[in-house]
Amino acid sequence: MTEYLRESRGLPITIDNVLITRGTMMAIHLAVQCIVQPGEVVVVGEVSYTSCNLIIKQSGAKLMTVPVDEHGIDVEAIEQLCQKTPIRMVYVTPHHQHPTTVIMPAERRLRLLQLAKTHGFCILEDDYDYDFHYNSNPILPLAAADSGRNVVYVGSLSKVFSPALRVGYVVAPAEVIEAMANLRRIIDRQGDNLLEAAVAVLFRDGEMRRHLKKAQKIYHHRRDLFCEMLKTELGNEIEFSKPTGGLAVWARFDPAISLPEVAQKAVKKGFGFRTDCITALNSTPRAWALLRSMRKKSSAG
Ligand SMILES: Cc1ncc(COP(=O)(O)O)c(C=O)c1O
Repeated sequence: MTEYLRESRGLPITIDNVLITRGTMMAIHLAVQCIVQPGEVVVVGEVSYTSCNLIIKQSGAKLMTVPVDEHGIDVEAIEQLCQKTPIRMVYVTPHHQHPTTVIMPAERRLRLLQLAKTHGFCILEDDYDYDFHYNSNPILPLAAADSGRNVVYVGSLSKVFSPALRVGYVVAPAEVIEAMANLRRIIDRQGDNLLEAAVAVLFRDGEMRRHLKKAQKIYHHRRDLFCEMLKTELGNEIEFSKPTGGLAVWARFDPAISLPEVAQKAVKKGFGFRTDCITALNSTPRAWALLRSMRKKSSAG
C-alpha cells in the first residue's frame, strides 16, 4: 500500500507513515479522536460529507462551516475564521469537492497549506476518488506538497474495488500514526489480517494496477453515457456540469420537483439517489442532488 500511495500520489512517505483502517470512516474517526480535543473547532464546507460531520460532532468538537463555491471550499472564509477563533482541523475533499464534484484549483490549495502552517491547524484531506479522473492527469493531493506536516491524508479501496472490503488507510507523520494505531488497538485489536494479506498480494502482483486501469476506462464510458442520458431524458428538469472525474454527478433540479418523492421512487428502481445530499447551498433552499447511477449496484457505497 505504501508503495502504491507513493507512486500514484507522489506522497513522500515510508511504511511508518501509513496505517491500514477499516475504510475512510475509521481513518477519519481515528484522526479526529487523536488530533482534536472536545470543544476545539473543526471546519467543513456548508455542504460536505455528512458521515464525517457525524464523527466530528460525536467527538465533542465544535463543527463550524464555511461556504462552498464553484471552486470548492472557500479558503478566504477559512482565513477570516482564523482571525476570530483558533481552528484545530479543516476537513477537505480537494480532488473532487464532496458532493459538488468540483476540483480545488492550485492557488486555493497553496493558500490552504500556507494557512495551516501559519495558524497551526491540521488539514484532514479525504481523497475518496483520486483514481477516477477522465480529462487529464489528477492533481496531486495536498499531502504531496505538505512541507509543514499539517496534512493527514485518508482514503480507501471503497471506490476502486468495493466498499464491502472495508480497507482504507491514513497517512500522517509517524508519531500521529503511532497514536492512531494505539487507539485502533483498543477498538479493533487486529483488523482483518487475512483480508489485508490478500489485498497486499493483489498490489504486489500488479493485479490492482491492471484493475484500476480497467475500472478507469469503464467509469469514463459510464460517465459519458450517463451524462448523455441525463441530457436527453431529463434535460428540461435538471442542470448539471459533466464532472471531470469521480463516480457522481451533481445536479440542480427544477424547484417544482419534490426531490424526496423522486428519490423514493428512484431507489425502488435501483437508482442510487442519496437523500442526505438533497441539500441547501448558501443557506437558500434549492433542489440539488447527488446522482450515482454511474456505479454498479453491487458496489455502491
Ligand atoms: C466523501 C467520501 N469520503 C469517503 C467515502 C468512503 O468511505 P469508506 O472508505 O469508509 O467506504 C465516501 C463514500 O461514499 C465519500 O463519499
